[in-house]
Amino acid sequence: MKKLILAAAASLLMTASAYAEVIKVGVVGPFSGPFAIQGKNFKAGIDAYLAEHGNKVGENTIEILYRDVPQPDPAQSKALAQELVVKEGVQYLAGFYFTPDAMAVTPLLKQGNVPMVIMNAATSAIVTKSPLVVRTSFTTWQTSAPMAKTARERGVEKAITVVSDYGPGVDSETAFKTTFEKEGGTVVESIRMPLSTNDFSPIMQRVRDSGAQAVFAFLPSGPTTLGFVKAYNENGLKQAGIQFLAPGDLTQESDLPAIGDAGVGILTTFHYSIAHDSPENKAFVAAAQKAIGNPAELSFPSVGAYDGMFVITKMIEATGGKQDAEKAVEAVKGLAWESPRGPVSIDPETRHITQNIYLREVAKGDDGGYYNKEIKTFEKQPDPGLAAAK
Ligand code: PHB
Repeated sequence: MKKLILAAAASLLMTASAYAEVIKVGVVGPFSGPFAIQGKNFKAGIDAYLAEHGNKVGENTIEILYRDVPQPDPAQSKALAQELVVKEGVQYLAGFYFTPDAMAVTPLLKQGNVPMVIMNAATSAIVTKSPLVVRTSFTTWQTSAPMAKTARERGVEKAITVVSDYGPGVDSETAFKTTFEKEGGTVVESIRMPLSTNDFSPIMQRVRDSGAQAVFAFLPSGPTTLGFVKAYNENGLKQAGIQFLAPGDLTQESDLPAIGDAGVGILTTFHYSIAHDSPENKAFVAAAQKAIGNPAELSFPSVGAYDGMFVITKMIEATGGKQDAEKAVEAVKGLAWESPRGPVSIDPETRHITQNIYLREVAKGDDGGYYNKEIKTFEKQPDPGLAAAK
């Protein structure tokens, strides 16, 4: 009898522990090197989410494992993702700042039975590489097309585009050019620069010589975006009457103090400003600033990460903590919620986030700090990139 009771108790305990799993989430991003602030923002967004909601989903406990890919490096990204899946047994992969790093990992997802929640990488086509990809950031198609409309509305007839020569840059160029020309404008020249370019003076000269009234630019946020905006200011383009237009990657908040007064008035279009006026955002900013330590370092990758954690939580709820990538992804198709950036949803067709895109102007606050002031909303924008690619 005693033995029987013990056996029953043991099996009860086992059942309980079978439901209480540790769910590992592997996060790949740039946590050291020139883009370390961007990776730090992934971590701040994740930490803010866990601080607000705890690390438990039902009986299950979330554990985050970070892996560092300092610069775009598809081979390293793939090797680390493989290690996370095979050796560490992660149930979810997340993060991915650079497009090539995300692209390299998509072939592993099906076999590993692991969904991928992209918290930044912004090339439209990534979601087509595997049905297990969900994205909570933005695409450069989504953020660039509204800038082309804005430029036309403000009377720009001739523009020149300058982009980094890789996925999100090419998408950004195509989005701007297609939309701008559809609205009756002309793109007089399109320059693609290697990702490693950091001397922008020769490019600024070409911009001047092109006869364009405005330059539209995309580079991935980091040290080179700051360098590019500074080169625009220092090479006298503003004085020459050439307007600067870009998606918000070029005026991330952590760069604004270094751009200084010269940046005031720059127009960008983007999915998120730290100054977005909503109770959800105020709570998020307070938590994320606390998590990052230095509030001046807070920038947009934090919100992609925060919402990515929300999506992963919903996936864990739907699967009861069991590893079932297909079921997890299925569960978040059509999911809608109020993000710190505004109302968002996961498009069930593309698994990409539908969201407002805001026209913003760099402004100086009463406290002497700079911010991206939202001045117009393009509501509920899906990603136009995939439709355009067909
Ligand atoms: C990307 O590589 O997809 C990427 C990186 C940084 C950005 C935008 C896109 O600011």
